[in-house]
Amino acid sequence: MGASFRPSTALLGAFLSSFMIFCLYPKPVLGITRHYKFDIKLQNVTRLCHTKSIVSVNGRFPGPRIVAREGDQLLIKVVNHVPNNISIHWHGIRQLRSGWADGPAYVTQCPIQTGQSYVYNYTISGQRGTLFWHAHVSWLRATVYGPLIILPNHGVPYPFAKPYKEVSVIFGEWFNTDPEAIINQALQTGGGPNVSDAYTINGLPGPLYNCSAKDTFKLKVKLGKTYLLRVINAALNDELFFSIANHTLTVVEADAVYVKPFNTETILIAPGQTTNVLLKTKPRYPNATFFMTARPYVTGQATFDNSTVAGILEYELPPNGFHSRISIKERPLFNSILPALNDTSFATNFASKLRSLASARFPANVPQKVDKQFFFTIGLGTSPCQHNQTCQGPNGTMFAASVNNVSFAMPTTALLQAHFFGQSNGVYTTDFPSDPTIPFNYTGTPPNNTMVSNGTKLVVLPFNTSVELIMQDTSILGAESHPLHLHGFNFFVVGQGFGNFDPNKDPKNFNLVDPIERNTVAVPSGGWVAIRFLADNPGVWFMHCHLEVHTSWGLKMAWIVLDGKLPNQKLLPPPADLPKC
Ligand code: C2O
Repeated sequence: MGASFRPSTALLGAFLSSFMIFCLYPKPVLGITRHYKFDIKLQNVTRLCHTKSIVSVNGRFPGPRIVAREGDQLLIKVVNHVPNNISIHWHGIRQLRSGWADGPAYVTQCPIQTGQSYVYNYTISGQRGTLFWHAHVSWLRATVYGPLIILPNHGVPYPFAKPYKEVSVIFGEWFNTDPEAIINQALQTGGGPNVSDAYTINGLPGPLYNCSAKDTFKLKVKLGKTYLLRVINAALNDELFFSIANHTLTVVEADAVYVKPFNTETILIAPGQTTNVLLKTKPRYPNATFFMTARPYVTGQATFDNSTVAGILEYELPPNGFHSRISIKERPLFNSILPALNDTSFATNFASKLRSLASARFPANVPQKVDKQFFFTIGLGTSPCQHNQTCQGPNGTMFAASVNNVSFAMPTTALLQAHFFGQSNGVYTTDFPSDPTIPFNYTGTPPNNTMVSNGTKLVVLPFNTSVELIMQDTSILGAESHPLHLHGFNFFVVGQGFGNFDPNKDPKNFNLVDPIERNTVAVPSGGWVAIRFLADNPGVWFMHCHLEVHTSWGLKMAWIVLDGKLPNQKLLPPPADLPKC
């Protein structure tokens, strides 16, 4: 390169070195800056003939869609006009060195108080696909959520044929009463919270509920086209099956990571998970409409909302077709068939089909060696009732939930701040147990003592620690599937099974070649799951069950990842407008 080119001035030198950097290194993904404004305000919304005032973003339910491109910087100004404290989490965004923008209240930030604002500032790097954003304080995410879509960089195609159209399908749960009142009451009485009154698709419950036929999501399609459905489960407390009558879905992405495509009639999606599916429409006019339905997959003992949300897939009439005089109402409506509510074998089978694409362009960088191993029990338990009262939990106790029998106590100040400024005293301790303190038969007859301990305990990981974590469901108060979500990282799901994890036998069957990479994984009911991740992102990272009721009961913990030695391995300093507690 340029042997005859002799720089004689500083300017030319600077030009040359930037030119060389440009030539010698792989082209960095440079994006643009996109600005959004989220006004948190109250809005009257009517569903199932019940009108209530909800906390919303910009008066919308569900909230607005954020669309960005890989490499873009997002500046999202959140202004709080409601009485509640608020914070917003960008679920699945890695937040490389920008943990201050992650959003879980009292973990990475104090919530934004009434009348205050905060600008979430982060850059999307190395990620593309479907994610979502949601409120991350108490149960406000019941109404405060929306899609977060990351398009591939310009000129980079999908690893599948370009779809004709892309559509977001976001599931939620509707409560006729105020979800904040529901969880507050439950935490006072110690009993299980009331369940939702409906599931929704894009905020709409659909015709199977009272008073809701007009509130139905309709997907109008053309013949012989491929649609990309960006399916998101933003429900509070329920894993969901989803299916479209007489149509097959091709799964191509999960949690914003491409997967090896496979066909299925039904998908299973846990709260916190996203699944991109291709829907190929029929080549000839079907003269019918089709239900698209979702209902829960349930393994626990508690009461649950067993209703079904339905949307309608409708074919546009072909131009000048002889059908054009038949009204939509006269066409037959096909119902979709969903697995039984407790179909764990479907869940197991579906999970086993999810594999990383693991191509040259999108490799599966599975950590092959492990620096530090953890074994966490995941499950329910009890806490004593306060003041010699009788509580509404099991045998007059209060419901609780824990990881390694520690029910996480939320601090009153943000963990990340305490960590960054070296002020952990009285806020948190770093003695989270890496294994159960008292081992027992996790999936056998539960122990007599089901009481959990309480604490704000964290795990400290040196920068670049390669972590293997086994999460073991317990049968205490009943085995149950728990969708665990890790902030700040994607992880690889290298193994899963039923019963107790066997450290001698099970690791031999781990998939270290093309395991699914994601941010939320269901710990199988009465079983275990093994994940691996590289702790290459300094900060404080929350991990919790994405069933909100379990998080409220304490099924959560946090990891501290220390700075690395190099300047670009350090957590950035907090922004000036970081909210105060
Ligand atoms: Cu989607 Cu900590 O949550």
